[in-house]
Amino acid sequence: MLNSFIYYKDGNLFVENVKVEDIVKEYGTPIYIYSANSFKNRFNNIKGVLPADALIAYSIKSNSNVNIIKLLKEEGAGADIVSRGELYRAKLAGIDGSKIVFSGVGKSYDDIKDALEYDILMFNIESLPEAELINKIASSMNKKARVSIRVNPDVDADTHHHITTGKKENKFGISYEDAVNVYKYIRDNLKNLEIIGIDTHIGSSILKVNPYKEAIGKLVNLIEDLKKEGIKLEYFDIGGGLGIRYREEDKDIDMKEWGKTITDLVGTYNLKLIVEPGRYISGNSGIFVSKVLYMKKTAHKNFIIVDGAMNDLVRPAFYDAYHKIDYITIKDRKNIIADVVGPICESGDYFAKERNIGEPVDDNEYIVIFSAGAYGYVMSSNYNSRPKSPEVLVEGDSVKLVKRRETLEDLIRDEL
Ligand code: LLP
Repeated sequence: MLNSFIYYKDGNLFVENVKVEDIVKEYGTPIYIYSANSFKNRFNNIKGVLPADALIAYSIKSNSNVNIIKLLKEEGAGADIVSRGELYRAKLAGIDGSKIVFSGVGKSYDDIKDALEYDILMFNIESLPEAELINKIASSMNKKARVSIRVNPDVDADTHHHITTGKKENKFGISYEDAVNVYKYIRDNLKNLEIIGIDTHIGSSILKVNPYKEAIGKLVNLIEDLKKEGIKLEYFDIGGGLGIRYREEDKDIDMKEWGKTITDLVGTYNLKLIVEPGRYISGNSGIFVSKVLYMKKTAHKNFIIVDGAMNDLVRPAFYDAYHKIDYITIKDRKNIIADVVGPICESGDYFAKERNIGEPVDDNEYIVIFSAGAYGYVMSSNYNSRPKSPEVLVEGDSVKLVKRRETLEDLIRDEL
């Protein structure tokens, strides 16, 4: 299985100690279900390979339910945020400002002001105009903003083009070539900024250590150049991007090697390490369950039509992403080749194409889409006026509804 907390026993799918069928009976479908202990376990895997003073800033965008953030906070997590909305969530979850880093190419006036008020650890600056604006706002508040520069190292993370961020043609960061000059400009001209670190993020779904090695190698050169200019740093933020297994045959990234690679650097330069993992923690900690509505057979194809859709989980439609699919109950089924699709009026509304999958055998069939804990619910929408699905958090025997299902009234509440 992709995760030891989500498994089959006596023909039934379980999340921790709870039968998924029982959750579905109580809360209906479509539905997201998470394993609390899986979140903790994945977080602690990272903790285990990094130095004790490293800041693990959970990337809230991957799964931002405040109950999840709270749970990770208890394990010692900080937060990587990209908006004042995420800051609000981190605050509500009780994460201290000293454990929050703020990334993103388009931080607005309000984003910056809120973050300064909460006294976050640092802004990862992605352009000179952004540095100027942070300086201006900090000055008006009589504050000094701690900053690092997000350097675009121009390395290939070997992942989907939508989620590659560290190539020079991407919109992210300040180019490797310009970085030293930007640091000098900030030091000499922007008096309400305090330079404390260097940051990068090369992409997402990375299953190899090598792209990290390459990026670090480049940043190390920069750290040397900055030293010569008398600019000393305290933090090194390597970003997120650790991938997960979406298929049984996938291999997890070698965490020991990853940890050692980045830790060695910190040792050499006496810098505090920051990492911003999202998917590695949340991805396989959640599933998405849908009811089979119809089995439609045409002369050319089989379609398994389910009640979940691309508005709930957009990754297959958006990235052509592979998610493992099965049923929540093991039954005697004939295997067929089928597309698993939702009810939305778009051909792109699918969860799988030409998948070898068991045929539904009765009217009471539910499919499970695995690896749905990251970039699942958070990317959902109301397209086709579909109320958003609920989220349920399982811990041992306990089942907690952490986001209720939207109602029809919710859909139009703000339109009146
Ligand atoms: N730090 C920064 C600055 C980021 O932009 C991201 C993700 C992360 C950390 C966390 O990356 P992770 O550890 O989760 O790979 N929606 C896409 C993924 C977009 C990732 C955006 N940035 C997907 O569903 O695959």
